[in-house]
Amino acid sequence: MAAPAINIGMSVKDRENISKGLSRILAESFLLYMKTHNYHWNVKGPMFQTLHVMFEEQYTELWNALDEIAERIRSLGFAAPGTLKEYLRLASIKEIEGVPSAEDMIRDVLAGSEAVSRLSRDVLTLADKAGDDPTVDLLTERMQVHEKNAWMLRSLIDSDKAVAPAKAASRSAKPAAKARKK
Ligand SMILES: [Fe+2]
Repeated sequence: MAAPAINIGMSVKDRENISKGLSRILAESFLLYMKTHNYHWNVKGPMFQTLHVMFEEQYTELWNALDEIAERIRSLGFAAPGTLKEYLRLASIKEIEGVPSAEDMIRDVLAGSEAVSRLSRDVLTLADKAGDDPTVDLLTERMQVHEKNAWMLRSLIDSDKAVAPAKAASRSAKPAAKARKK
């Protein structure tokens, strides 16, 4: 018997494009998860305690997010990639050989968090145009988490003074993004 058609008010094309984007986010997130867990095990030096704990919080959160992302792809009607081979092909994040210094670990996880955030922002735009609010919600959350993680990691190796946003920015800023219903 044929599988029941998916009739949720989105075109096949939109569901397919968003699923492709989510598959890339899943791949990036998996590789970032793996690196962060690796660094939780292997970090050394005076920042050991801070990083050991911070990396654990981040990889635990990422591990749970993988399931949310994959299940959204399934809800849109496509197969979720689930092999390391596919993740390595889909992701921009590269594996690192050997054990980096604590500071290089921070820089690496920071770059990974920013990469996931940038990609989530692109795919969110697609989802928003297609009226795919559940994906918009999911990616809003992914961006919040990754941008907060990136800030915390950056702060560990940044001793510059914090910079307040320029006053003029409020006049020239683009209108606020349309409010998303929660
Ligand atoms: Fe542990």
